[in-house]
Amino acid sequence: MTPRPLPVLAVTSEIFPLVKTGGLADVAGALPGALANEGVAVTTLVPGYPAVLAVLGKARPVLDITDLFGGPARLLRGKASGLDLLALDAPHLYARDGNPYLGPDGRDWPDNARRFAALSAMAAAIGRGAVKGYRPRLVHAHDWQAGLTAAYLYHGGPNPPPSVFTVHNLAFQGQFPASLLPILGLPASGFRFDGFEHHGAIGYLKAGLQLASHVTTVSPTYANEIRTEAGGMGFDGLLRYRGASLSGILNGIDIAIWNPETDPLIAAPFSADNLKGRAACRAAIQQRFGLAPDRKALLFGVVSRLSWQKDLDLLADALDDLLALGAQLVLLGAGEPALEQRFRQAADLHPGRIGVRVGYDEALAHQIQAGVDALIVPSRFEPCGLTQLCALRYGTVPVVSRVGGLADTVEDGITGVVFDALTADGLRGALRRTADLFATPRRFAALGRAGMGRDVSWHGPARQYADLYRALVVAH
Ligand code: ADP
Ligand code: GLC
Repeated sequence: MTPRPLPVLAVTSEIFPLVKTGGLADVAGALPGALANEGVAVTTLVPGYPAVLAVLGKARPVLDITDLFGGPARLLRGKASGLDLLALDAPHLYARDGNPYLGPDGRDWPDNARRFAALSAMAAAIGRGAVKGYRPRLVHAHDWQAGLTAAYLYHGGPNPPPSVFTVHNLAFQGQFPASLLPILGLPASGFRFDGFEHHGAIGYLKAGLQLASHVTTVSPTYANEIRTEAGGMGFDGLLRYRGASLSGILNGIDIAIWNPETDPLIAAPFSADNLKGRAACRAAIQQRFGLAPDRKALLFGVVSRLSWQKDLDLLADALDDLLALGAQLVLLGAGEPALEQRFRQAADLHPGRIGVRVGYDEALAHQIQAGVDALIVPSRFEPCGLTQLCALRYGTVPVVSRVGGLADTVEDGITGVVFDALTADGLRGALRRTADLFATPRRFAALGRAGMGRDVSWHGPARQYADLYRALVVAH
């Protein structure tokens, strides 16, 4: 007899394919399916944004709340895209289109403190059995937006269920004024350095890091980096203190969505055994970006948020050298306006050699992964990184800095090119090395093939999460 699946409540502010700004959505969208194979039944609590209610609006209400931080709310339970969801329908907090965190002026919504405290408070309530007939054995919260879950669980009465907090990015910390305490229903007694206080503010990320039963991050190397002063962003002391209650579990990608043999978004299918279709994908991407249809030129690609973390300034600084190698570049990205501008100008200056699309385009991301020879990821820090995993899966050679999850997933000279000096010169050296490898087509193809042979699925990581959940439930 197979044992009953372990019910786990996940809490996240974004989930693919409904709402996505970055890798968190990919993880939240793919992990439940992989965990199902490990005997874990995940239900995911998400804010009832318009995109969520569009698919779940007619779902069954399972709880009504008269007043959730300034307005009525209800919980809807239903299925979408194979995910078991609980949507927090609270129009005063979430009935806003577009980016889940930013208003039309590009700034954080002024009530984000309330919006994500509400999500966390609900998660804790569900964890304690607020929904009739549903009692999770563990609550798994992601990033600062769900960080207060651990605080609400801790202060909500005796014997809360165990919790896991996963930090996907230590740079986003969610700090808000202490004056909000009574509004958020948090006790002043918890406002202390070993509670949810952080430098005189309410720390949402801090609450998760401090109060969750166990903290994970998304790669073993990042788990070590954040214990150091250089990588800890002010939390290294706390993270060292957490000892064995902090661990790194590498992300995977959804290998059904990212499958070059069946991907409907790319020009032609291909596989490690039959790479013929890749030439068509390459030609299609050159054409799409108006590049010269040159079969000999090394074609680099970038798919990224344009943010400080990703350090694409290094690439902007090294563009002349890239061109001097006879290479081409396509870039898809959005973020910091100054950087968007810099790459747009480079494309204007070098038509036929550099192509740039500013914006967010899921289909084009697939086409770039399938069509370019090498993908550049020069991040300053990278908790895990998913684009290099997609590159491996599509036989594209990742060129990455040796940080975080990039260091854990790309093997220098075997599946990709890894560089140590996080400077324009360091990147220049890596581009040159990539060009040298490319000059011997057989060697370069071997890198791509080796990458395609790596397991980038959720299979192994999901087993690690399942083992962790079980250990925490048993110890509880
Ligand atoms: P982060 O979460 O820090 O942005 P990750 O590499 O973990 O970095 O995940 C980024 C995800 O977002 C990947 O799925 C990537 O393909 C996607 N992505 C990033 N920028 C774009 C873009 N401009 N258009 C389409 N997809 C993008
Ligand atoms: C964050 C990190 C990225 C990671 C993603 C999913 O956005 O920047 O490195 O892959 O979360 O865990």
